[in-house]
Formats: sequence, structure tokens, C-alpha cells
Amino acid sequence: MIRFIEAAAERTAIAREILEALTDWFEVEESREQYIADSAQQPFWASFDGDTAEGFLCLKETGKATVELAVMGVRKECHRKGIGRKLFAAAKDYASRKGYDFVQVKTVRSGVYADYDITNEFYKSLGFKELEVLPDYWDEANPCQIYVMALKSALGTISTRHSYRGAFLQETVPEEDLLAIARAGIDAPSGCNKQTTDVIVVNDPEVLARLKEQIDPPVANTAPAMIVVLTRRINAYRDKCFAVQDYSAAIENMLLAIVELGYQSCWYEGHITDDDRICDKIAAVLNVPEGYDVVCILPVGKAADDFHAPSKRPFEERVHFNKWG
Ligand SMILES: Cc1cc2nc3c(=O)[nH]c(=O)nc-3n(C[C@H](O)[C@H](O)[C@H](O)COP(=O)(O)O)c2cc1C
Repeated sequence: MIRFIEAAAERTAIAREILEALTDWFEVEESREQYIADSAQQPFWASFDGDTAEGFLCLKETGKATVELAVMGVRKECHRKGIGRKLFAAAKDYASRKGYDFVQVKTVRSGVYADYDITNEFYKSLGFKELEVLPDYWDEANPCQIYVMALKSALGTISTRHSYRGAFLQETVPEEDLLAIARAGIDAPSGCNKQTTDVIVVNDPEVLARLKEQIDPPVANTAPAMIVVLTRRINAYRDKCFAVQDYSAAIENMLLAIVELGYQSCWYEGHITDDDRICDKIAAVLNVPEGYDVVCILPVGKAADDFHAPSKRPFEERVHFNKWG
């Protein structure tokens, strides 16, 4: 089981236990002690079998856009069990949600030591790409290979997006980010290009407060901005109306843009379109003209709380090749 470790004392105890068992990689006492000391202040994950720590990983910020996989160690007898992969998945998920663009890792270049060759292959198998070799970064005998991985790709953002229903940090969302999110919505496809979806971006604190007053029971009460999604239920051709498909595509695009820009959100449609018609009250606050329906609100802000992916039906149960089953 992978667990995020909060307490500094537990972090250093685990780091010491693991690194002192891995002297093939962490041979120099001085740098080993430095890794252990630094780990106290770094985001830290450990893998456990019962009460026994099998391995750990910690991250360090090396720039506003980048985190480094500062140190990672898995007991030798626990190698090849997928523990490193799971630790990295947890750290990558965290870094993506915090809005970082890149993760880097440094190791001794391939072709110098057999143990490090395995490490290089492991990083490459995770998706890291070679960035540069710095021959003198440590010393001539240990050329430093820097690997890098982009955290923001369409597929990466799709897999890290989840509904966020926690509190938001009280930080203003820059208008350029809100416009980029709205543009992602407007760029979505629509049936017969009828473009039935419009959005209203709300970031004026007074308007936002009046909008939130309508949402009872409250959701996204602390969001510093909201995108309100409107639809026109016109036919694309004959009696075919694709308005629902159109606004769904726009909403998903906006959710992905929100996550890619380092914010969180949730598709609130059921909550506002129920019998109490919160959507109509929101429409009245925002002067929405006749012919347009408010169908969804998307809060936008930085997450203040942790959150986890909900469980979903197994992939194999839902994806079929060539025939059902
Ligand atoms: C059409 C639609 C309506 C939704 N309405 C609500 C809602 O009113 N309140 C809410 O908390 N979540 C709502 N959601 C979010 C879903 O509950 C959520 O997507 C689902 O549980 C899967 O979780 P995930 O988004 O983290 O993958 C809605 C999602 C969709 C697609």
C-alpha cells in the first residue's frame, strides 16, 4: 500500500531504513545523510507491506514549473514488484494536481555501472526522456544524466482529471486563464456546427456572491471564479437537437483546460437542474436572455484539500476489442 507520509520524523526514519539497506546506490555516507535530512521537508510517499516500509520516494521543487524526483529507494528484495512504479504514479499525480509542467530526475548515465543501467532503464520505462548529460555535475567518474517528463499532455490531463468538491484557496484566478478555459469550451465540436453552447465567466466578487446565494444546499462555496454554461436547444437538422452533446463536449474541454492550468473543478449539472431549478435563479442573476438555459456551473480555483480518484469499473469490463466480451 502506498501512503503519503506527513510527519518529518517518520519520513527521515523511513528514508534512513531504506537508504542504509541500499548502499550499492547510496554508498557515500555524507550524501546519504543529506538525502535523509532533506526528506523531512519534502512531499514523501512510502510503500508498505503491513508495517514494513518497502520503499519511498520524495519530490523537491527545482523551479516554479518543475519538480525533481529527489530520491527514490526500494529494498532490493522488493524490486520487480511494481513498487517504484506505484510510488512514482502517486508522486506524478500529486505534481500534476499542483500544476507543475515538468518532472526531472538525475542519475548516473548508462554504461558506467550495471546497477545504474537498471535505474536508467526503469526511468525510461516510466516515460522519462533524456534531456542532457552533465559530465562534471557530481564528478568525472559519475556523469550525471538528467531525464525529464512533461506532465501536461492531453492524455496525461485526461487521466489526472477528477471531480473536486473540496475547498478552494482564496487566490484570484488570472483573467487570461479564465479566457483560456472559456476558449477551450468554445473550441469544442458541435452537431452541424450549430454552436449551441455559450459561457458566462464570473469572477466579479459581487456577482459571484449573488450567484452562490442561489446555490442551496451550497456547493463550491469558496470558488474564486465560476464558468456558467448555457445552451440553446435548437435543432441541428429536421427534429434532431444535439444541444446536450454540444455542451457536454464544451464542458469536458473546459474541465481539461482547468486541470491543465493547475486548477480544479467539478461538473455541477445535477445539482442545479433539479426540481428546485437553481439554474433558473442563476440565469436571473446573470441576465440570461430567453431561449438560453443555464445547464451547468464549473467552479475554478486552486484546491485547498487533498482528493482522490473515485473507484471505477475495471477497464477490461468496459473496453472490448472487435466484439463484446
Ligand atoms: C452530466 C453530469 C452531471 C453531473 N452533476 C454533478 C452534480 O450535480 N454534483 C456533483 O457533485 N457532481 C456531478 N457530476 C460529476 C460526477 O459525479 C463525476 O464525474 C463522477 O462521479 C465521476 O467522477 P470523476 O469526475 O472524478 O471521474 C456530474 C457529471 C456529469 C457528467
